[in-house]
Amino acid sequence: MKIPFSPPYIDQDIINEVNDSLLSGWITTGPKVAALEEGLQHYCKAKRVNCVNSWTSGAILMLRWLGVKAGDEVIVPSYTYCATAMAVMDAGAKPIMVDIKSDLTIDVDKIEEAITTKTKAIIPVDLGGVPCDYERIIKLVCSDKIKERFNPTSDNQKKLGRIMIISDSAHSLGATLKNKTIAELVDVSILSLHAVKNLTSAEGGAICLNMPKPFDNEELYKEIRILSLNGQTKDAFTKTQAGAWRYDIVAHGMKFNMPDINAALALAQLRKYEYLLSERKRVYQRYSNLLKEYHWAILPQQDTEELTTSYHLYPLRINPITEEQRDKLIQYLANLDIATNVHYIPMPMLTLFKNMGYKIEDYPIAYDTYTREISLPIYPQLTNNEIDYIVKNLIEGYYSITL
Ligand SMILES: Cc1ncc(COP(=O)(O)O)c(C=O)c1O
Repeated sequence: MKIPFSPPYIDQDIINEVNDSLLSGWITTGPKVAALEEGLQHYCKAKRVNCVNSWTSGAILMLRWLGVKAGDEVIVPSYTYCATAMAVMDAGAKPIMVDIKSDLTIDVDKIEEAITTKTKAIIPVDLGGVPCDYERIIKLVCSDKIKERFNPTSDNQKKLGRIMIISDSAHSLGATLKNKTIAELVDVSILSLHAVKNLTSAEGGAICLNMPKPFDNEELYKEIRILSLNGQTKDAFTKTQAGAWRYDIVAHGMKFNMPDINAALALAQLRKYEYLLSERKRVYQRYSNLLKEYHWAILPQQDTEELTTSYHLYPLRINPITEEQRDKLIQYLANLDIATNVHYIPMPMLTLFKNMGYKIEDYPIAYDTYTREISLPIYPQLTNNEIDYIVKNLIEGYYSITL
């Protein structure tokens, strides 16, 4: 039985929607993007949504909009994909990495310790789809003590009057905290629609806006749209309508727009997202039920009364196990054609960040998690039979490697 790690979900309905775009005479940003933005806005309960061509572009754009620059600091978890920190570096600012908690989300106590007068934003990551402790993070940035330390250096920073919370929601479409979506909780949350994500446009991202007053999210939507199109006042679709050729360039923008072909894919998936999510939940719960009796299997965060995950990853941890044994287990499963993964190698262990002076010794929970983590395949198409096969071999592999 060959089990891939994370194949995209493609059915006839999705193919039809992409074909519709291909045959429509318009393939880049146009009606499909507008429909996807509207659909996501409704699903996420955001005030407005701008689609872009990746999470990374969305984060770069929002940090630039906030006026983050050299000399500034942005707090990120050490345990995430490198893009979270790279977007900060792209702005010329310094990513301040902090450790995580056992649920793999950022440790809010560590955020508090890391805040300085240079801090302009925090990018918490809903790792695997588990919402961060946003209540505490919001309370923290809105507290008088932290607000007093805030030193705004751009118009948008002055208007906000506090550290901005930009959620890295690359994994968490559909997750909830006290019945609220992440987009409802924070200033801005950014989704990734990359090929392995719960909802995909092959490559893509979505900026979910929820800026507090006095910001006008409708105006902000228009501003971001222009910034994502080289600062151009009209997108190509509008410009090609007969007689509508004239445009202006009003800002130093970027070329981050999402093409309609990509939006079509995600649009068709979004229509059945509740089903896709429930199938992920089935896989997640079946793993948990099969593994819960094994003392060595540390299950990932389960749903509670307050919180639901989006079941993006199944980050199992194994205890006791060494990093070498974990690697052997991955190879044991790979020899049986079962693809697993590790989420993540903490950023301070990667060459780029090591060369910048980050040290893994400063992030003990991230390191400990990494050495014992193995992500099991999770996607709607995975059958119960396949799940049972994966778990059976995982158990056999564990005992053959550790005994
Ligand atoms: C946590 C996290 N943040 C950011 C990204 C970057 O997303 P994108 O590839 O859409 O730029 C990813 C993608 O893997 C991710 O997993």
